[in-house]
Amino acid sequence: RVTRHYKFNIKSQNVKRLCQTKSIVTVNGQFPGPRIIAREGDRLVIKVVNHVQNNLTLHWHGIRQLRSGWADGPAYITQCPIQTGQSYVYNFTITGQRGTLWWHAHISWLRATVYGPIVILPKRHVPYPFPQPFQEVPIIFGEWWKADTEAVISQALQTGSGPNVSDAYTINGLPGPLYNCSAKDTYKLKVKPGRTYLLRLINAALDNELFFSIANHTLTVVEADAVYIKPFKTQIVLITPGQTTNVLLKTKSKSPKAPFVMAARPYVTGPAAFDNSTTTGLLEYETSSVKANKNKNKKKLPLLKPVLPKLNDTLFSMNYNKKIRSLANAKFPANVPKAVNKNFFFTVGLGVSTCSKNQTCQGPNNTRVVAAINNVTFVQPNTALLQAHFFNQSRGVYTTDFPANPPFKFNYTGTPPSNIAVSSGTKVVVLPFNTSVELVLQDTSIIGAESHPLHLHGFNFFVVGFGSGNFDPKNDPKKYNLVDPAERNTVGVPSGGWVAIRFLADNPGVWFMHCHLEVHTSWGLKMAWVVLDGKRRNQKLLPPPSDLPKC
Ligand code: C2O
Repeated sequence: RVTRHYKFNIKSQNVKRLCQTKSIVTVNGQFPGPRIIAREGDRLVIKVVNHVQNNLTLHWHGIRQLRSGWADGPAYITQCPIQTGQSYVYNFTITGQRGTLWWHAHISWLRATVYGPIVILPKRHVPYPFPQPFQEVPIIFGEWWKADTEAVISQALQTGSGPNVSDAYTINGLPGPLYNCSAKDTYKLKVKPGRTYLLRLINAALDNELFFSIANHTLTVVEADAVYIKPFKTQIVLITPGQTTNVLLKTKSKSPKAPFVMAARPYVTGPAAFDNSTTTGLLEYETSSVKANKNKNKKKLPLLKPVLPKLNDTLFSMNYNKKIRSLANAKFPANVPKAVNKNFFFTVGLGVSTCSKNQTCQGPNNTRVVAAINNVTFVQPNTALLQAHFFNQSRGVYTTDFPANPPFKFNYTGTPPSNIAVSSGTKVVVLPFNTSVELVLQDTSIIGAESHPLHLHGFNFFVVGFGSGNFDPKNDPKKYNLVDPAERNTVGVPSGGWVAIRFLADNPGVWFMHCHLEVHTSWGLKMAWVVLDGKRRNQKLLPPPSDLPKC
């Protein structure tokens, strides 16, 4: 087993985008942050030193953290933040996983600039289940604000209204030429003809699902959330914040003269304002270039641009997600828990809460907009849940009464109930070790139907079914796919619809679950599962490292 050491210095860096320079929080001064490369089975030891004024934590999104929950990273869930001048070593082993994942800050909105790819190669001498690519390229999508993102979210929480939207989307940190004075900041993917490239797509945007496409090129999707899938061809990829998607790009056999445009633009369903701009980059063949194209013969070759679906194309989303199937088949079905021990039905959506005295609230009837699961908006504790759990000090920190079902039923995709006020609390669900869980997530149409990319820490889950409208507990389970469902860590709850997932609670610890639209997380669309230790020695959470930060 190989141990790989990284040192992440959290520091400020001046970065210029869209004609303005601003100081951002970075890792080692890089934006996007450094790439972590490892192999399945390796141990990662990442020393994080905080040199900035903000308290922060890092999360290794999609890494299962088997028994090593202390290294998972969500602030106040598994650890207290690393304070200015302090450090913490994230120490964990990558067990049974290979593919593309990513890391990001996991406190407030700092992940706006603090993120980077994690590339996990298969074990030595284990090939990919697809042709060996000529080259592998991470492509990480983000959002750029001219303003300070910490100010954006604190102002929104203060006024009880929606936060300002971003000024641009980015590809590997670069907005591209469709924005004011950003033509120089254009990502270029240089390729040779007749080769296969593996693009490791990551959506690190704060608040938007994205469509992505490259003009005149077909992509073959081979992996989702670091799990191989049955390959399928598509012009357009849809990727929610938190998700990763590996695609093969086969280049044309002869170098065309003009470059091709790649573009990403949001898929939006919600009622709130959003940045509907488009980020573009270029796919350049060896001998093609925009310049050559400009001066020769004066006749400009047109740049080929991709066609993306309309902003709210939920039908595209439904059809796209149907194609994501694991490599399993009827003879060798996926490892889906068959007998379910515990069923949960969670509604996810918006709601309102009373306005506190020092706020000027902009929600209906002087309320503030919040987000909730089963009508509970999560209140962040002052200490980490995992510590409270491990040291048997949960009293005053959290309660174990998170509801398994919504407090009242209504037509989730019809007219919302007249009272849309939510309750609040730091509530968790406790699961005995090895409980097999089925969880149905139902979007509510309160304030508007909306797709919510739900992310579960500590596990991969199987997406056994999804559909539009209200979940039908009698008939929908009959149609579950228990043979080759997608296995992932983040799933979009369809706008005005539902998704059913299953997972085995075989990882003791405290595991966060939340909407990966950061604005919804800030509004409280989050909760945690406490998974108890098993009886055997190797079924217990390990003790905390000695440098675990204190609150
Ligand atoms: Cu990618 Cu809880 O996060």
